Amino acid sequence: MDVLKWRILPLLALLAAFVVLNVKISPKQSSSDCSLLPHSEFWIRSNRIVTPQGVIPGAVKIKGGRIASVISGDRKSSEFPRKHVVDYGDAVVMPGLVDVHVHLDEPGRTEWEGFLSGTKAAAAGGVTTLIDMPLNSYPSTVSEETLRDKIKAAEGKIYVDVGFWGGLVPENAFNESALKSLLSAGALGLKSFMCPSGINDFPMTNSTHIKEGLYTLASYKRPLLVHTELVIESESTDEIKNDISDVRSYSTYLKARPTSWEEAAIRELQAALDETKRGGLAEGAHIHIVHLSDAGTSLNLIKDAKSNGASVSVETCPHYLAFSAEEVKDGDTRFKCAPPIRDEVNRQKLWNALLEGHIDMLSSDHSPSIPELKLPEEGDFLRAWGGISSLQFVLPATWSSGLKYGITLNQLATWWCEKPTKLIGQQNKGTIVSGNHADFAVWDPNIEFTIDDSHVTFHKHPNISAYMGKRLSGKVLATFVRGNLVYSGGQHSPKACGETILAK
Ligand SMILES: *[C@@H]1O[C@H](CO)[C@@H](O)[C@H](O)[C@H]1NC(C)=O
Ligand SMILES: *[C@@H]1O[C@H](CO)[C@@H](O)[C@H](O)[C@H]1NC(C)=O
Ligand SMILES: *[C@@H]1O[C@H](CO)[C@@H](O)[C@H](O)[C@H]1NC(C)=O
Ligand SMILES: [Zn+2]
Repeated sequence: MDVLKWRILPLLALLAAFVVLNVKISPKQSSSDCSLLPHSEFWIRSNRIVTPQGVIPGAVKIKGGRIASVISGDRKSSEFPRKHVVDYGDAVVMPGLVDVHVHLDEPGRTEWEGFLSGTKAAAAGGVTTLIDMPLNSYPSTVSEETLRDKIKAAEGKIYVDVGFWGGLVPENAFNESALKSLLSAGALGLKSFMCPSGINDFPMTNSTHIKEGLYTLASYKRPLLVHTELVIESESTDEIKNDISDVRSYSTYLKARPTSWEEAAIRELQAALDETKRGGLAEGAHIHIVHLSDAGTSLNLIKDAKSNGASVSVETCPHYLAFSAEEVKDGDTRFKCAPPIRDEVNRQKLWNALLEGHIDMLSSDHSPSIPELKLPEEGDFLRAWGGISSLQFVLPATWSSGLKYGITLNQLATWWCEKPTKLIGQQNKGTIVSGNHADFAVWDPNIEFTIDDSHVTFHKHPNISAYMGKRLSGKVLATFVRGNLVYSGGQHSPKACGETILAK
C-alpha cells in the first residue's frame, strides 16, 4: 500500500504542477473568473453520461460553451493526449436541471431570497437554468418596464441561466398592447392565479382574463401557466376559519384547501380553453398547470383533456412526492404550501402518474419567505406564508424518494431537463447532444447526506425548509453552465456569469 502511495504521489504532484501551469498560461484570464476550470476547450469523461439514447460510458467534448461532440466507449483519460480531461469516474453526468418554477423575489424582497443567493443554491443543486416567477418580487413582473427592472436587477448576480415569466393580472389582461410589449421584451410566457396569490399587487384572474391572455399568447406561441385552485366558499371552510383553537393542526389546513378547489379550477380552465379554441382565435395556445397536488379527480380531468387533444401540460413538485400529510406535525408551518401536501395514498398516486407520463415534468416552486411570516409564533397554518424552500435539494429529493419506484436516470432527465426545456421554448438545452449548451449536473447517486445545520445551503434562511432533518442520497459534485464550471465541491466560480434567457 505504502509503496503504491509513494509511486503515485510524485505523479500527482506533476499533474498538479501541470494544472497550475495551465492556469497561468490561460490566455482568457478575465473570463476564466466565470469558471473554476480555466479552459474553453476540454473533455468531460464519465462511465455514466445521460444521453437521449441511454446512459453510456464515454466523453463529452466542450468547446466555446457548447457540446462539440459526444463519444461513447470506455476510454481512459490517458487516451486524450494533450487535451484537458475532467474525469468524473462513476459519477453521473446529466444535462443540467431546468427549473421552470422559482420565486427569487428580486427586486424588492431580497430579504426573502435574491438572484445571488438563489442562483448559488441552484448551481449547488445541479440546476443550470431557472425561470423566475413574476410575483413575490416588488414590483411584480406585469409590464415591459417591470421586466426590464428584473433583467437589470439580475445583472452580474446570476450563477446559472435565468429566464422570466410575466404576470397575467386583471390590470393588463384587457390591454393587448401591454401584454404584447411584455412578451416582446422577452417574457417566456405568462402566469396567472385562479385564487388569491397571497401578494396584494398580483391579483387573481377570472376566466375572462384568462381567455384574453390566451388570445395574445397564442400569437406568440408561448404558454399560460396557471395556479389552479378556485376558492369555493362553503360552510365547512367558514367553520374552519372560525375555529381558531385548531389553526396549529395540519388537518385544519388540509380541510381549508380541499382537492375540490383544484378540480373546480381545472374544469373552469378547460372551459376557457375550449371557448377560445372555438373561434379559432387561440390556435397554438398552450396551458401549463403548475404544481398539481391532487392525484384524484383533478389528475383525471387533465388526462381526459390531453387525450381529447388539448394543448395542456402539468408539473408537480418534489415536496408532493417526498412528503405526506401524515408526517406533518401540528404547528410545523415549514410544510405549508398551496395547494397543500396531501395524504400518503395521494402521494403514491402522484408518483404513478409521473411514471406513466400523465404528469409531464417537475419543478421546485422554491418560494422562501422571512421567518416572521413563515414561522408565526403560534404555528398558525392559516396565517403562515405558503411556500417551501427547496431549490438546492430537488435533485437528491427526487432521486431519494423515487428509488422505491425504480426510477431511472433517463426518467430524471425527462422530468427535469427535456420537458421543461420544451415548455420554455428553448432549443439548445435539456439534452446532452452536439450543438447544445454545455450545461451539466455531475452527481453521485450513492452519496448520502443529511440536511441539517451543518449542511452548506446557499439559499436565504437555509434552516427554514421542510427538508431540514431529511436524509437524502444523491450529492451534486459539480455544475457546468455553458461550459463554465460554476460549482464544484462546495465552491462557486469567482464571478456570476449566467445569462438571462429572453424569448425572441
Ligand atoms: C395599456 O398599456 C400601456 C402600456 O403598454 C399603457 O400605456 C396604456 O395606458 C394602457 N391602456 C389602458 C387603457 O390602460
Ligand atoms: C372578470 O373580471 C372582469 C373585470 O376585471 C369583468 O369585466 C368580467 O366580467 C369578469 N368575468 C367573469 C367571468 O366573472
Ligand atoms: C435558524 O437559524 C437561525 C440563525 O442561526 C436561528 O436563529 C433560528 O432559530 C433557526 N431556526 C430554526 C427553525 O431552526
Ligand atoms: Zn409558485
